[in-house]
Amino acid sequence: MELPRKRILIVDDEEDTRDACTQALKKENYEVVTCSNGFEALERFRTDAFDIVVADIKMPRMSGIELLRSLHKIDPQLAVIMITGYADVDTAVESMREGAVDYVPKPFTPDELRLVIKNALERQHLLQENRALKEALRRSVNAGEIIGESEPIQKVRQLIDKVAGTDSTVLILGETGTGKELVARQIHQKSSRGNSQLVVVNCAAIPADLLESELFGHEKGAFTGALRRKKGFFELADGGTLFLDEVGDMSVDLQSKLMRALQEREIQPVGSERKVYVDVRIVAATNRDLKDAIRRGTFREDLYYRLNVMPIVLPPLRERPGDISLLADYFLGKYNADLKKRVRGFTPGARALLESYPWPGNVRELENAVERAVILNEGEMITVDSFSQLSSEAAPASAAAGDGAKEVNRYPSLKKVEQDYILEVLQATRWNRKKASEILGISTVTLWRKIEERQKDIKE
Ligand SMILES: Nc1ncnc2c1ncn2[C@@H]1O[C@H](COP(=O)(O)OP(=O)(O)OP(=O)(O)O)[C@@H](O)[C@H]1O
Ligand SMILES: [Mg+2]
Repeated sequence: MELPRKRILIVDDEEDTRDACTQALKKENYEVVTCSNGFEALERFRTDAFDIVVADIKMPRMSGIELLRSLHKIDPQLAVIMITGYADVDTAVESMREGAVDYVPKPFTPDELRLVIKNALERQHLLQENRALKEALRRSVNAGEIIGESEPIQKVRQLIDKVAGTDSTVLILGETGTGKELVARQIHQKSSRGNSQLVVVNCAAIPADLLESELFGHEKGAFTGALRRKKGFFELADGGTLFLDEVGDMSVDLQSKLMRALQEREIQPVGSERKVYVDVRIVAATNRDLKDAIRRGTFREDLYYRLNVMPIVLPPLRERPGDISLLADYFLGKYNADLKKRVRGFTPGARALLESYPWPGNVRELENAVERAVILNEGEMITVDSFSQLSSEAAPASAAAGDGAKEVNRYPSLKKVEQDYILEVLQATRWNRKKASEILGISTVTLWRKIEERQKDIKE
């Protein structure tokens, strides 16, 4: 495979030096572009990509150091090498302090220049690799915490710890966005297989006719286009965990083959006579009602029992409203960090809205809503306005039904009646603030101020 040629920008006011550099570098198969002053170089750099810039320190109008600073404003990671005057140690030191990666004193031989550039490219490569590794590590190691103090979530955490110590097959059930994949990752990480592969297969995303060879692999020539033998996900997960996501979407035909593989702990690659033994722990998940699928004949009953050894059921978010605020705070922290923002929190009204919204997309929808709010927010606090797209779609069942405090007095205060009435209208209009405010005969702003007030009253 041919790697893309490295691109180098030479900036020097002297034509002789530019030519000498070009000659020296073209031999190494670099792509060289030259500019005769800093302004031209900046212009070029804004519209073109370079791996390294080599700039003379002494140039009229814009010095090499000034150019270096401007370049780093555009790309702080850019590797810049300075050409310094002979024995001019002071400027060489200064340029390094300003962020140059290296320098070459004039006059230099072609070999000297090539060596400095080669070293800089190597260092750059290491840095990039290091950054990529860190990112991969962050993604693989941190399955992320499971947030929530509601009873069902506490149970889920206990179950994860229990099953992690075994090799039992786990079936994770729950609506979309309830955290099934997160749970699967935690089980893998906490298990003795945590240092081996976790292979994730989305059975719904792979076309039915390809899924078999993806799962079990195939021999060379097994079908048109099978140019070489290929390992399937089962073999790739050998020694580790295979996460069969959306297992309820698998064709009945393939379900039989999966059933056999689980029973015999052996797989048969497509077009192969031989069987391959695999040591794989299975975690499966689906948002479908498998019992119903069995009744309709779209899911094999025997496979269901084989998978359903240790079921973990994730309840929808609307059934654990107490977790909403905790999750919202957690995601606020996460996106503050990710997006380098400093949003402090949610106004009481915003919190009330989040707690009463039914979250059909569950935790994922909440996460997306908070991310969007953090991006859009300009003040210190996230207000109800950041969630406008929710309030109009919202259809809280019985949520936000109020504080539930029993009235000791037979006659509630006018304020309480007003607040209850506002809530009633909001529920009737499915939290459509525009409609609600029309019915109430007040502006939407007034409406939300009143809701914020109510939240404050409840807290006090
Ligand atoms: N209890 C939780 N604590 C923290 N984050 C959570 C929790 N539950 C879900 N999440 C986050 O919500 C998002 C959606 O979760 P996940 O992908 O695991 O859902 P899922 O059940 O697999 O959904 P789908 O059925 O649509 O594939 C992820 O970013 C996940 O990290
Ligand atoms: Mg999922």
